[in-house]
Amino acid sequence: MDLVNVFDFEEAARAALDRNAFDYYLHGANDEVTLRDNRAAFDRIRLRYRILAGIRDRDLTTLLLGHQLSMPVLAAPTAFHKLAHPDGELATVAGVGAAGTGMFLSTLSTVAMEEVVAAAAGPVFFQLYIYKDRELTRDLVARAVAAGCSAIALTVDAPVFGKREPDIRNRFHLPEGIAIENAAPAGYGGFPDDPGGSGLTGYVNSLMDPSISWDDLEWLVAASPIPVLIKGVVRGDDAARCAEHGASGIVVSNHGGRQLDTSIATIDALAEVVDAVDGRLDVLLDGGVRRGTDVVKALALGAKAVLLGRPILWGLAVDGSRGVQAVLDIIRDELDTAMALCGASTLDEITPDLVV
Ligand code: FNR
Ligand code: LAC
Repeated sequence: MDLVNVFDFEEAARAALDRNAFDYYLHGANDEVTLRDNRAAFDRIRLRYRILAGIRDRDLTTLLLGHQLSMPVLAAPTAFHKLAHPDGELATVAGVGAAGTGMFLSTLSTVAMEEVVAAAAGPVFFQLYIYKDRELTRDLVARAVAAGCSAIALTVDAPVFGKREPDIRNRFHLPEGIAIENAAPAGYGGFPDDPGGSGLTGYVNSLMDPSISWDDLEWLVAASPIPVLIKGVVRGDDAARCAEHGASGIVVSNHGGRQLDTSIATIDALAEVVDAVDGRLDVLLDGGVRRGTDVVKALALGAKAVLLGRPILWGLAVDGSRGVQAVLDIIRDELDTAMALCGASTLDEITPDLVV
């Protein structure tokens, strides 16, 4: 099968994965309105390309929080990579490194963060969930810093878990031999026995703190010697408050439509957020990025970079690290073509006038 675009990888992954894993990766909350709208909103935006720009080569490289990347596209934090490939996050980080970019590593990884960072060629940003067990939470931050992570990304759109109906029907579970390695030493390596629905929902709703507030962000910024990002912002007022609290960046995200269904599509939320932060911090975006033209649209509306969630998992499921690299290379090629056709030779030339 010719894997020509990211959607081809999704179909190939469907064939490679069992239902427990594929449904968990693919789906969103409730009626999946937001999941669909993240894509539809990109498709509603049209490009006003410039002609006769005299461009021979494009430069796609960017500097993010001091790190040189081959393009403004990184891997989003997603849980449980060993459901897709036996090497789990080690394969992901190898593929991401081969593509010259960086990775967000989930708290819920199936390889311990120290091992992942040790194998990384580029930056690893540790995604943090705050456990009710604050000793574990403090320890996760300290370990991420000691391991050499480049930033902490606090996810704030999941105080409780969204209702993913296929996971309830499948009794979503972790197969024997796959554990939540970062939390395993504290005794939180597996889902509760017989949760009567999604095991992950049982895990999150019993162990994570639903009452986190701006005070926790203040604590994290003070406790962390590395930059703190906030992931899950869709409003200008919240984004401004993140800047006031000392965050170095935010990720405009609705968790890939997996949390609050019918929440605003991320690309529709971006302009307000960019306006509100007024250059005080870097704005990233994820949700529905599947084409190089989507990257152009996000950058034109003020994003510094974008993250890919599910497409990375499809690459991983299909061909391990090579699959991850292949997905990223496809997006890079598409971005290069889109820039050439838009009349932009550098990322700085991707300006707001390009979109309508
Ligand atoms: C996620 N996401 C996520 N986010 C996070 O902060 N911590 C996590 O552990 C996870 N886990 C996770 C698992 C799976 C299977 C998916 C699909 C997503 C959300 C993720 O970081 C990102 O916001 C979305 O995936 C982006 O949307 P797309 O690219 O998947 O459309
Ligand atoms: C998810 C988590 C783990 O979306 O954030 O499944």
